[in-house]
Amino acid sequence: MTEISDAVVLVTGANGGLGTEFVRQALAGGAKKVYAAARSPRDWGDPRVVPLVLDVTDESAIERAARDAADVDVLVNNAGILRQGDLVTGDVADIRAQLETNLFGPLLLTRAFAPRLVAAKGAVINVASVLSWLAWGKGYSISKAALWSATEGLRLELEPQGVQVVGAYLAFTDTPMNDGLTDQPLNDPADVVAAIYDGLRRGHGEVLADETTRAVRAGLSRVANAA
Ligand SMILES: NC(=O)c1ccc[n+]([C@@H]2O[C@H](COP(=O)([O-])OP(=O)(O)OC[C@H]3O[C@@H](n4cnc5c(N)ncnc54)[C@H](OP(=O)(O)O)[C@@H]3O)[C@@H](O)[C@H]2O)c1
Repeated sequence: MTEISDAVVLVTGANGGLGTEFVRQALAGGAKKVYAAARSPRDWGDPRVVPLVLDVTDESAIERAARDAADVDVLVNNAGILRQGDLVTGDVADIRAQLETNLFGPLLLTRAFAPRLVAAKGAVINVASVLSWLAWGKGYSISKAALWSATEGLRLELEPQGVQVVGAYLAFTDTPMNDGLTDQPLNDPADVVAAIYDGLRRGHGEVLADETTRAVRAGLSRVANAA
């Protein structure tokens, strides 16, 4: 169980749709300080928000962030990218880029912040996706499936040391990532972030933020093309 109230929170991809909401709801929940990490930080007009330059694919920038933000209690690995392209014929660079941002970003950040999180008995939130469990996101699905596995593995290592590790899973949500998507019902980012912080407070290891995600998760034991 991790409280946001009085905590120091770091959000990656803070300028994005969900990132902005993670910052906003941390402040509303009484966070002492929020590091709003982004490739191009902006002014938030709140003295509790500390803008931080951070590209999650830059290992030296991650190490620097861990030194500069040495008081973090809750690390929110939110930054992510979505690239189109088939696995067989698409650009391999796009598949690699999604793994760098969506898998190695959260993994390297968690490694860099782990000593502090252990000392603080803090928490990590990894924002994955319902596409961790549905392959039609192609390279994006590969990266989010890998993040799911990484989240489970990190929990095995960090939970015994007092760190809560939360995997957050969600379906289509109304953010710039889905600009132009008009034929799908979209979650409100405020509802998704509220569900994730609620799961954090309750001590959960997994948050399923919407009905679609709960249904897909429940269907995982089904076997495709079984004899
Ligand atoms: N929206 C959905 O339907 C949905 C569903 C499931 C999961 N998710 C996940 O939710 C998370 C947030 O996405 P969103 O929907 O809020 O999308 P978004 O509005 O596109 O925000 C993504 C943010 O990630 C940042 N980012 C990308 N690459 C980065 C890098 N190398 N270093 C640092 N920041 C980087 C972007 O920064 P810039 O502003 O610098 O580009 C942007 O602020 C992602 O992990 C996404 O995969 C979203």
